[in-house]
Amino acid sequence: MPDNRSTATPAVPRRALVTGAAGFIGSHLAHTLARAGTTVIGVDRRDPARDQTAAANIAPLHSHPGYLHITADLLTCAVDPLLIDTDVVFHLAGIPGVRPSWGPQFSEYVNANILATQRLMDAATRMRVPRLVVASSSSVYGPTNGGPSTEGDHPRPASPYAVTKLAEEQLCLAHASRSDCSTSVVALRYFTVYGPRQRPDMFTHRVLHAAMTGQPLSLYGDGHQRRDFTYIDDVVTATISAAGAPIDTGIVNVGGGSNASLLDVINIANALVGREIQIHTDGARNGDVLTTRADLRRARSVLGWQPTVDLPAGMRAHMRAMSRSAHRSAA
Ligand code: NAD
Ligand code: UGA
Repeated sequence: MPDNRSTATPAVPRRALVTGAAGFIGSHLAHTLARAGTTVIGVDRRDPARDQTAAANIAPLHSHPGYLHITADLLTCAVDPLLIDTDVVFHLAGIPGVRPSWGPQFSEYVNANILATQRLMDAATRMRVPRLVVASSSSVYGPTNGGPSTEGDHPRPASPYAVTKLAEEQLCLAHASRSDCSTSVVALRYFTVYGPRQRPDMFTHRVLHAAMTGQPLSLYGDGHQRRDFTYIDDVVTATISAAGAPIDTGIVNVGGGSNASLLDVINIANALVGREIQIHTDGARNGDVLTTRADLRRARSVLGWQPTVDLPAGMRAHMRAMSRSAHRSAA
């Protein structure tokens, strides 16, 4: 684990439900919780017996007796039994990705990000779950003037995906404000997360893949887009901190503190492998904003958290993990 500054380890809950546990962020979160002694139920609609990515993501959890994996779709399954005696729900299940959301898959986004969330919040209210932490997204801010986005800024989502994420977080907050709801909600707006097991559609994975294989990289636009890239271990620490944060309900940014351009990422990858990635320039994509940048004051005060891993260190760790996984596949 690359760690260039010190970070406090947050207290872990006794028993938790992690939705989206076979995904990139959910599997890291479930693993960290299980290792720290939390009894974790992980639920995901992808079946690890049939889906290689899901199987690889949850492989590190096999050795933990405190982890139970359930393959189920939150849109249709009985949710109440998943919540019995649960202290906190970490709701990471969803359909991510900005660019494909313009296509016919939009109904999938609505089903997973809005309708399934409605079912989960209904059940959490009924089962009197004390806290739900939901994975929201920096994409809800939309285009900015380049300065840091604060949680009180007016959201201007610029893609169908971002619209569903804004609906998702607001839906959770609306439930939490019901007079008969004792579930407090913390919505975390994650900023472009990277690191081991990152989704292969995402930029950092694709850059490192191009660097390691010599295959060309498609660059959408001129590469001057900037992202507040956030390392996965920092995201997991912030998410666990949110379970115990002393607030009733609210929204908190989770960003990496390293607002870098896509060209910066390419340069770091070039330096890591000692050769230049071959780039194919392609058109900028609808819904992609020029800049994301997190104001982290609220994260510091409410979660007692700040990012610890800078981009070069995080990318080195990400590349090491990709090399290990390539060697395993080749063996
Ligand atoms: P991921 O696709 O790797 O993981 C999401 C998981 O949710 C998948 O395994 C999927 O099968 C599962 N899922 C989807 N719909 C489901 C349903 N109806 N029932 C059960 N399981 C379902 O994505 P990720 O990158 O790990 O993102 C996790 C969450 O964080 C998503 O909600 C995403 O919108 C949000 N987010 C991610 C990023 C990022 O940079 N990765 C940034 C901001 C927000
Ligand atoms: C990421 C996640 O994919 C979303 O699920 C999440 O909600 C969002 O972060 C967030 O922060 O909320 P994005 O910022 O688009 O979305 O991250 P990447 O998919 O890694 O793309 C970053 C940039 O690289 C974009 O400008 C994209 O157009 C560009 N890109 C991506 C390329 O130039 N080429 C590629 O092959 C892929």
